Amino acid sequence: MEVRSEGVQVRCDKLQAPVIARTRLRVWFIRVCSSIVIWTCLIQLFTVTELWRSNFISGITSRIYHTNQRPFLAETTVAQAPPPYPPPRNYTSNGFLRVSCNGGLNQMRAAICDMVTIARLLNLTLVVPELDKKSFWADPSNFEDIFDVTHFIGSLRDEVRIVKRVPKKFNTKNGYSTLKMAPISWSNEKYYLEQILPHFSKHKVVHFNKTDARLANNGLPLDLQKLRCRVNFQALKFTPEIETLGQKLIRILREKGPFVALHLRYEMDMLAFSGCTHGCSYGEAEELKRMRYAFPWWREKEIVSEERRLQGQCPLTPEETALVLQALGFDRDMQIYIAAGEIYGGEHRLAQLRAAFPKILKKEMMLAHDELWQFQNHSSQMAALDFMVSVASNTFIPTYDGNMAKLVEGHRRYLGFEKSILLDRKKLVELLDLHQNGTLPFDEFSDAVRRVHENRMGQPFRRRVSDKPKEEDYFYANPQECLCEGTKCDDLLGPRNSSEVR
Ligand SMILES: *[C@@H]1O[C@H](CO)[C@@H](O)[C@H](O)[C@H]1NC(C)=O
Ligand SMILES: *[C@@H]1O[C@H](CO)[C@@H](O)[C@H](O)[C@H]1NC(C)=O
Ligand SMILES: *[C@@H]1O[C@H](CO)[C@@H](O)[C@H](O)[C@H]1NC(C)=O
Ligand SMILES: *[C@@H]1O[C@H](CO)[C@@H](O)[C@H](O)[C@H]1NC(C)=O
Ligand SMILES: *[C@@H]1O[C@H](CO)[C@@H](O)[C@H](O)[C@H]1NC(C)=O
Ligand SMILES: *[C@@H]1O[C@H](CO)[C@@H](O)[C@H](O)[C@H]1NC(C)=O
Repeated sequence: MEVRSEGVQVRCDKLQAPVIARTRLRVWFIRVCSSIVIWTCLIQLFTVTELWRSNFISGITSRIYHTNQRPFLAETTVAQAPPPYPPPRNYTSNGFLRVSCNGGLNQMRAAICDMVTIARLLNLTLVVPELDKKSFWADPSNFEDIFDVTHFIGSLRDEVRIVKRVPKKFNTKNGYSTLKMAPISWSNEKYYLEQILPHFSKHKVVHFNKTDARLANNGLPLDLQKLRCRVNFQALKFTPEIETLGQKLIRILREKGPFVALHLRYEMDMLAFSGCTHGCSYGEAEELKRMRYAFPWWREKEIVSEERRLQGQCPLTPEETALVLQALGFDRDMQIYIAAGEIYGGEHRLAQLRAAFPKILKKEMMLAHDELWQFQNHSSQMAALDFMVSVASNTFIPTYDGNMAKLVEGHRRYLGFEKSILLDRKKLVELLDLHQNGTLPFDEFSDAVRRVHENRMGQPFRRRVSDKPKEEDYFYANPQECLCEGTKCDDLLGPRNSSEVR
C-alpha cells in the first residue's frame, strides 16, 4: 500500500479540541482584529446590496453550527473567503465504484465516509452514493436532496474523483458488465486490496449493494482513518435548505438559554424491532409484535421484553427518561429538545416527561407548518435537522445507542469533547426498579445515577478493541485518531489501555 508522506490533513478551520483552542486563541485574536479592520472597509463599500447580505448571513450560519457555542469566533471566519477546493489528485483510476447505501440517515452517513475511503485506497472513481429508499423510513431522497453534492465532490477532489454517474461508454451495450456484490463486513485494507481490487480488472464497474459497517473500526492505516473523519466532518454538509432551517432551530433554542438534545428513541420501529414493550398497553404490545412479524429482515420474532430490558437492551421509556433526567440534576426549567420522530403513544406517553420538564420542545412546535412541510415526508431530512440540533446542544442524551446516538457522540467529541451523557441502561433499569418499588428513596437513587455516569460524559478515552467487531467501540462514535491534531493525543486520551474507564 502506498503511504503518502504528506498525510491526509484534516483541515481544521473549525475548533477541534480545547487544547488547540487555547493555543490558537492568539492567532484568533490577531484574526479578529484584522477582520474588524477589513470589515469596516468592506461595510463602507457595500452598504446597500441585498444580494450580498443574504450570502453573508448564510455564510455565518453555516459556520456557527460547527463552532457550537462560539458565535464570536464563528463570525470572524466569515471575513475570510470560503476556502477554494484543493487541486484534484492526479491518478489513474482503476474503475468505477457504485454504492447503494442501506439504513437510516446516520448509518448511511458513516457508510459514505467508508466508501470514499475505500475508493481512495483502491484508486477508484466513486459514483455519488445512492441512498436507501426502501428501508423502514422509506425516504425517496437522493444524495443531493440531503447533502451538498457540489461541496462533497469538490472538497474531496485531492483524494478521490467523484462523478454523478457512470459515463455512458461503460454501459452494457459497449460490452461492460457491472459486478454486483456486498463486501464482507468489518474488512480491513488488505481485504480490499487483495479481494476486491482484482474485480476491477475484469469489470470496469463494481456495485456494492450493501454498505453498512464494511470497514473495520481499528487496525487501518492512520491516513485512511483520517480520511474517514475528513469526509464526515468536512465533506458532508447538508443542503442549504436543511442547514438554514437547522440553524433557525438552534437559534430559537439558544436565544432562550442552554438546552438538552434528548434523542428519545421511543419510536414505533425501534420498539417493534427490539421487542421492548415496557410501559405499553396490551393492545400496543400486540401492535408492535404484528409489525415485527411484518418485516422479514427483522430476524428475531419472539422476544421477552422484560428480559431484554434487564439486559439493558431497551430504549428508556419517556417515563424512565424523566426520572433519569431528574436524578442527573437537570433543572425543571431546562429546555429539552426532543430529537426524534414520532414518539410511540404520542402526547399521552410524553405526559410525565412534560410534567417534570415543561419546556419540552419539538421541531413541529418551533417552526411554522409551511417551513417544515417540505421535509415532512422525508424522514432523512427531518433526521438531518435533529442531527444538527443535537450536535449544537449543550448536552446530548440518547436513550438508546443507535447510529444517530453514535454519530452525534463522535461529532461532539470532534468539536472539543462536548458533553454527551451515555446512559448505562442496564444499571439504570436496576436503579429505576428499586426506586419505583420504594426500596431506593430519590436522593439515593439520584446519587447512584450520577455515580454511574461520572465517566460517561463524552470525556476523552480510547476505543475498546475486541476480536468481535460488534463488541468493540464504533469508530464513528470515538474517532480518536482525529480528535487531537497537532497535540499530544496520549495526554488527552490517557494510557493506551484505559478503555475500561467507560
Ligand atoms: C498526471 O500524471 C501523469 C503521469 O504522471 C502525467 O503524464 C500527466 O501530465 C499528469 N496530468 C496532470 C493534469 O497533471
Ligand atoms: C494508486 O495510485 C498511486 C499513484 O497515484 C500508486 O502509487 C498506488 O500504487 C496506486 N494504488 C493502487 C491500489 O492502485
Ligand atoms: C447484492 O448482490 C448480490 C449479488 O448479486 C446478491 O446475492 C445479494 O442478494 C444482493 N444484496 C442486496 C441487499 O441486494
Ligand atoms: C405526506 O404524506 C401524506 C400521507 O402519505 C400526504 O397526505 C401528504 O400530502 C404528504 N405531504 C407532502 C408535503 O407531500
Ligand atoms: C424491589 O425490586 C427489587 C428488584 O427489582 C427486589 O429485589 C425487591 O425485593 C423489591 N422490593 C420491594 C419492597 O418490592
Ligand atoms: C495495560 O496493559 C498491559 C498489558 O495488558 C498491562 O500490563 C498494564 O498494566 C496495563 N496498564 C494499565 C494502565 O491498565
